[in-house]
Amino acid sequence: MKHILLGKHPSIKKIRELITMVSDTAFNVLILGETGTGKEVVARLLHYASSRRNKRFIKINCAALPLTLLESELFGYKKGAFTGADKSKPGKFELASDGVIFLDEIGDMPLVLQAKMLQVLQSGEFNRLGGTEDVKVNAWVIASTHHDLEKDMKVGLFREDLYYRLNIIKVEMPSLAERKKDIPLLTNHFINEHRRDLKIGDHFKLNGDLRKLFQLYHWPGNVRELSSTILRLMMGDDPEKLRFELLGNMKADGLTPPLKLFLDPSEEAGKGKKGSKEPDIPKSLKDLKRNAANYIEKKVILHALEMTGWNKRQTANILKVSYKTLFYKIDNLGIGREQA
Ligand SMILES: Nc1ncnc2c1ncn2[C@@H]1O[C@H](COP(=O)(O)OP(=O)(O)OP(=O)(O)O)[C@@H](O)[C@H]1O
Ligand SMILES: [Mg+2]
Repeated sequence: MKHILLGKHPSIKKIRELITMVSDTAFNVLILGETGTGKEVVARLLHYASSRRNKRFIKINCAALPLTLLESELFGYKKGAFTGADKSKPGKFELASDGVIFLDEIGDMPLVLQAKMLQVLQSGEFNRLGGTEDVKVNAWVIASTHHDLEKDMKVGLFREDLYYRLNIIKVEMPSLAERKKDIPLLTNHFINEHRRDLKIGDHFKLNGDLRKLFQLYHWPGNVRELSSTILRLMMGDDPEKLRFELLGNMKADGLTPPLKLFLDPSEEAGKGKKGSKEPDIPKSLKDLKRNAANYIEKKVILHALEMTGWNKRQTANILKVSYKTLFYKIDNLGIGREQA
């Protein structure tokens, strides 16, 4: 069983408790949270913890299908209901009978279908398209979305009555940034998980710089992003490039990464030398800024040189500096082929 909800943060502990409490009530559940926070994990755990665990868990992604297809997928159809319906087909609601129907991305459900969904939830029954007999809803309805439904309701994109129908039990997934203390635990978990999946030995080590950065990074893609970042590293991505990518993402999202993270690791290492009286932090903000700027400049120039196979004219073109400036910088920053 691969679905686990790890975390020591109080909000995660509460969700784990809630899962065991509500799993046999069959009250509608609405799971809210940003992308990658574990909404599907919770839905599957609810199913697993309930007496419905031996019945089906049917997931339908409401964002992935156009209106008519989504409707027929949900409720099924009778032979002849529309052109091309040459035989009857049960919908997901029927297939999930006595089990769970997971309405993923419900916030993207078109309004017309929201109206039908409300009516189905109110009456507890529905008709297949083109059919007349009533089919009872026996599935446990669990819905999830990354949308802010309260906002969507205000602008008329989500029906308020449907919201209250679904929102009997609300589970709000915290973002990873809200529970940074869980990052080391999750990091180790994913290292082990990917190690098993990739069938590799335990030689992979996450370097200290990245561990520190993982703690500071804002993880817009939440737990999924952490997992895939670790996977990339384990599959051979350059840790240094990744470090710059994460720092770049932070800047692009308007966050200021601590300048210390821009320092050349070799300079940092030098500071720790035996007998060195150097403090941990460089002398002045000006020095720190200069170091950071030099370090970034060096990395960018090196990268461009690598791209062009050390063709300096092309590199100068790419970087939009004169040939002379590039030469000066290469010399001044001490860039050599051995660093590539
Ligand atoms: N607390 C957690 N412990 C362990 N793994 C987790 C946790 N939360 C999420 N994951 C893992 O992160 C990944 C994303 O989780 P999930 O698919 O449940 O997110 P989601 O909220 O449904 O995202 P989306 O909105 O993008 O569909 C999965 O691989 C899941 O196993
Ligand atoms: Mg999901």
